Amino acid sequence: MRILAIETSCDETAVAILECTGDVHAAEFTILGNALLTQIEVHKPYGGVFPALAKREHAKNLVPVLEAALEEAELLHEDAQIMSNETHNIVSEILAREPGLAEAFFEFISECEPPEIDAIAVTAGPGLEPALWVGINFARALSAVWDKPIVAVNHMEGHIVAALAKAAGQNLEIKNVEMPVLALLISGGHTELVVMKEWLEYELIGQTRDDAVGEAFDKVARMLALPYPGGPEISRLAERAREEQNGENPFTLPRPMIDSNTCDFSFAGLKTSVLYVLKNRSDLNDQEKKHMAHEFEDAVADVLWKKTAMAIENTDARTLVIGGGVSANTHIRRVFTDKMSSNFAHVDLRIPTAALTTDNAIMIAIAGFYRATREEFTISISANGNLALADNK
Ligand code: KG4
Ligand code: ZN
Repeated sequence: MRILAIETSCDETAVAILECTGDVHAAEFTILGNALLTQIEVHKPYGGVFPALAKREHAKNLVPVLEAALEEAELLHEDAQIMSNETHNIVSEILAREPGLAEAFFEFISECEPPEIDAIAVTAGPGLEPALWVGINFARALSAVWDKPIVAVNHMEGHIVAALAKAAGQNLEIKNVEMPVLALLISGGHTELVVMKEWLEYELIGQTRDDAVGEAFDKVARMLALPYPGGPEISRLAERAREEQNGENPFTLPRPMIDSNTCDFSFAGLKTSVLYVLKNRSDLNDQEKKHMAHEFEDAVADVLWKKTAMAIENTDARTLVIGGGVSANTHIRRVFTDKMSSNFAHVDLRIPTAALTTDNAIMIAIAGFYRATREEFTISISANGNLALADNK
C-alpha cells in the first residue's frame, strides 16, 4: 500500500510517500519521497511557536513540499488536467479558509497527473489547531481531486511507531514487537507514559500535571537567554559541561515528584527553581550557564528514568519506546540505554533514529498505514488540538 502523509501539527511542514507492506506482526516501509520545511527561523524572534504564523507558513509551504516529495518519489508527472466544475467548487469551499493555499493548489493540481498512491494520511491532532487545519484541508482537497481516501492520524501514535521502526538497509521495518509496549512520550506538548497491550490500543498510566518536558527545556533555555528551540541548546551546553568537568556544579535543582508513588510528572517546579536561582543574582556567565544546563538535564533525566522504571515494573512491559522531540536528547538517550541494560535487560528498548525523533511525515505515514490496513478511513475529519491517544480505541 502506498501512503502519502502530511504533517503540520506544529512548526514543521512535512510530506512523505511510503510504500508499506506487511501488517502489525511484520511490516516494511520504503521511503519513496520525504520533504520537510522547518519554520524554526520564522518563530525564533518570538521565542516559541506563534500559531497564526505557523498557519501562514504551512499554507505557503505545503504545495512546494508536496511537489518535492512527489518528485523524489518519481511520481510527479506533468500533464494538463481538466477539473470538473463540481470538483472545483468542492475544493474552493474546502480551501476557502486557507487563502494562502488555494491559488498555488489549483495551479499545481491543474498541471500534475494524479500520483499512484492508495491513501492520504494526515495528522488530526494533537497540536496547534490552526496549523492542523491547514494540513487537514490540504488533505481533503487532494482527496477530492485525486479520489483517494483519507486516514486521520494521531500525532503521538506517529511518535510511537517511529520509535518502533528500525533501519533495514535503506528501508524501515517494524517487527518482533513484544507486548506490552510501554511508551515514554516526551515532546513540546506532551509528557506521558502510555501502555499498549494490543496493537494500537492505549492506556494512559502517567502524565505531567503541569508543563511538558520539552516546554520546560524551552522555558529554561529562554531564562538563560539561549535561542529557540531551547532543547538542543541546553543539551549542547550540558554536554560541554560534562566533557570539561570544570569544578563542582554550584547549582542544585529538585527532582519533582521523584519519590511519589505515581507515574505522573511535574516540571513546573523545576522551571521555577531555575527562576529562583536567577532572581538572586545577576546574569549567569557562560560557565554558569553550562553548569545550570547540566544540572537541569540531570534532574529531568533522573525523574524520567525513575517514573519509567516504576511503570515498567507496574505493567510488566516487554518493550520500551521513547518518542517525541525530546527523545533526540543525547543525555536522556544515554541514561536510558545504560540503565535499561543494567536494570531491565529483558526489555527491548527502542529509540527512534535521529531523523525520526522530531516531527516528520514518515511517522504519520507509518501510523496511517496501520490504520488503513484496518480500513479506518475517515469521511469527516476535524482538527483536535487535544486529541488523546486513548480516543483511538
Ligand atoms: O515532537 P516535537 O518535535 O514537537 C512536538 O510535538 O512538540 O518536540 C519538540 C520539542 C521542543 O520542546 C524541543 O525543545 C525539544 O522537543 N527538543 C529537545 C531536543 N531536541 C528537540 N529537547 C531536549 N534535547 C534535545 N536535543
Ligand atoms: Zn511531535
